[in-house]
Amino acid sequence: MAFTSIKDIKAKAAAGSINIKIGRNDVCWCGSGNKYKNCHEDFDKRIKRSQMMGHIVPGHDIIKNAEQIEKIKESCVINIAVLDELEKEVKEGMELAKIDKIVYDMTTDMGGIPAPLNYEGYPYSVCTSVNEQVCHGFPHKGVYLKDGDIVNIDCSTILNGYFSDSSRMFCIGNVSPEKKKLVDVTKEAVYKGLSEVKPWGYLGDMGQAVHDHCFANGYTVVREIGGHGVGLEFHEEPWVGYNSRRGEEMLMVPGMIFTIEPMVNMGKVDIYIDKDNEWEVYTEDGKPSAQWEIMVLVTENGHEVLCY
Ligand code: MF3
Ligand code: CO
Repeated sequence: MAFTSIKDIKAKAAAGSINIKIGRNDVCWCGSGNKYKNCHEDFDKRIKRSQMMGHIVPGHDIIKNAEQIEKIKESCVINIAVLDELEKEVKEGMELAKIDKIVYDMTTDMGGIPAPLNYEGYPYSVCTSVNEQVCHGFPHKGVYLKDGDIVNIDCSTILNGYFSDSSRMFCIGNVSPEKKKLVDVTKEAVYKGLSEVKPWGYLGDMGQAVHDHCFANGYTVVREIGGHGVGLEFHEEPWVGYNSRRGEEMLMVPGMIFTIEPMVNMGKVDIYIDKDNEWEVYTEDGKPSAQWEIMVLVTENGHEVLCY
């Protein structure tokens, strides 16, 4: 989850611009301990060239080194285990509050902290978004999963200060073919986007691939809420949208980690936020919405999925 506006994106792009003030024989900024000339000098030159051509480029603060990536992966192990466990347990008749308890208990048993808990006042350990809920659904007491529901369960973990974040869809009992297709196409769209993730490409390559697949199936992709950089913080730069075009948005470079998490609506693109709690997001037309979220690392040769 990350809200944004075009103005924010522009301001952030300026903030992310890189300024190289480091000697070739100095220690590299990345923390490797190697000399700059043998480490990230060529990398920085390549970023600088892209920037000079008018592209949005990442700042050094969102480039993760090998040590950080290892720590982030340890956090992902918990997040994946929690979602795997939920796949065994979630079924018709389960109270949403029970899902919250499973996530809290399992995350803390494994030494982690559920990242949503108290995040900007969020009152639970997990988001459970059912049917026409787009995201940030509360795992309410007294609300039970029914036959035919589709629910997104969004888990995020902090382990030793490192963050992981992913979500999956769960189909409860006999789900209609229309809803099942929405769930399947949304997952396919994430993986179409993923196939575009490689160093020296642009985030818009990924965004357009996600959008094209959803559009071809008659769906709409939520505009206001997107993915985000993640790892050292819960939500880092860049903001990751899906209404972007090939060759646009931020340059992807090795060491960047971000989420791909489109919210895909069966009907109209419009959404609203519950006025009472200012968290739960719904489709305006009441039609179902689906979301899958993965966390991906840009590598030297392509990408690696860290969390799913
Ligand atoms: N995985 C969601 C995200 O991408 C989690 C939202 S947690 C909340 O941000 F606390 F912000 F609801
Ligand atoms: Co996220």
